[in-house]
Amino acid sequence: MLSYKGYLDKIREESKNTYPLKNPHNNELIEEVPECPDELMEAAISKADDAFQSFKNVSSHERASILDKTAQIVEDNLELFATTISMESAKPIKFAKGEVSRTVETLKFSAIEAKKLEGESIPLDAALNGKGRDAYTIYQPIGVVGAITPFNFPLNLVVHKAGPAIAAGNTIVVKPAEQTPLSSILLREAFVKAGLPEDAFIVVTGEGPRLGQVLLNDERVQKITFTGSPQVGKLIKSQAGLKKVTLELGNNSALYIDQSFEDQIEQIADKVVVGAFSYNGQVCISTQRIYVHDRIAEDFIKHLKNKSEKLNFGEPTDESTDYSSLINEKSQNRVFEWIKEATENGAVLHLGGNKIGNGIEPTILSDVDPSAKLSCEEVFGPVVIVNKVNNSQEALEEMNHSQYGLNAGVFTKDLKQALLFGHELDVGQVLINDVPTLRFDHMPYGGRKNSGYGYEGVKYAIKEMVNRKLISLNYSY
Ligand code: SIN
Repeated sequence: MLSYKGYLDKIREESKNTYPLKNPHNNELIEEVPECPDELMEAAISKADDAFQSFKNVSSHERASILDKTAQIVEDNLELFATTISMESAKPIKFAKGEVSRTVETLKFSAIEAKKLEGESIPLDAALNGKGRDAYTIYQPIGVVGAITPFNFPLNLVVHKAGPAIAAGNTIVVKPAEQTPLSSILLREAFVKAGLPEDAFIVVTGEGPRLGQVLLNDERVQKITFTGSPQVGKLIKSQAGLKKVTLELGNNSALYIDQSFEDQIEQIADKVVVGAFSYNGQVCISTQRIYVHDRIAEDFIKHLKNKSEKLNFGEPTDESTDYSSLINEKSQNRVFEWIKEATENGAVLHLGGNKIGNGIEPTILSDVDPSAKLSCEEVFGPVVIVNKVNNSQEALEEMNHSQYGLNAGVFTKDLKQALLFGHELDVGQVLINDVPTLRFDHMPYGGRKNSGYGYEGVKYAIKEMVNRKLISLNYSY
């Protein structure tokens, strides 16, 4: 049976210290997790580098087969993966199951892309002195990929790094979030069971900044792929030297609802409840800033409030739980303080605003000052703000008035408006007639401004984990 225990025991033996991993909801101890010393990270990089010397010669057919088998193993163990995610991250089990299903798909997409690393042919005789030559390009793996992953999708966001890395023929060292190491270890076990060499995927647990720095400093690591805060992302980029870097950072996702949706405003409220409050808003593309046409705003707030107040708070592993605890007390206090700051400065509180257990109630506010943290920063909590606007131009300007640029959504039945928003929103992904909290795992996914650098989405991530090589043929001899 698949288990994280054996691997955890092994690295615990090699580490002097441990830290207590507690369930964020009930504070119960789950495991003593190794606080791996720097030397263990260095050893992991050495092993991954050695493994690369043979793994780089494994055919794309075999790599695809390993990825497909891993997908099957994850699917067969859906309950185990979902419970592990739920326990360590306090993600309600129904969303944890959704994450596992997405993981299976991400692995399958990776298997497909492993077989599609196609180069191109280039007629060199197009150049003045190129006569007598043709050329073609191939993609080759780069070596060891270093992945630093977040707590909010402890499985699928690891696969978004490991899937493309393995598909391309690289090896990978993963430094998971301190709060969620178990899902990534379980994933590694699935890969190994599917036939991946043991050292082609290594998980090193412990303190993020320290171990991340070891990955960053090591010349053998060819690429850093990171999901987390803009502050850390910028630090990584400034220290990465010639390493390749992909950064998926934050967002304060905006949504515009125009008056053409007047008769379907209740259905949109249903979608916003999911977009704003799934996993307590701890999603980079959580719906945070909503701009609604003045004519329908009151009606929208009424429906949103009615629906949101029905959400159940509870144990993450309980099927009836809609929302649960935030990841830690620091996060709970921060979100609470930001709500307080907004209301003290005149914001109208329509719902929530209080602490509940280790979480925060689903919170809806309007008339939030544009300079408030809730407007400008990424909340990463169950808070949504609703702003009234008079027209689409005003909405567009407000939506773009952000340091971030990952996803944005627009509900409009006016084709001209849809095209305009599609063109003018300063974000990586525009979702027309959807909330911004939407991602399919094969689509390109990347942010502008403080939201990131480079792209994920399997096909696009792979291209950032390979070296292109040109081979020129001089046929005049
Ligand atoms: C993220 O929160 O960074 C990813 C969101 C997703 O994959 O749905």
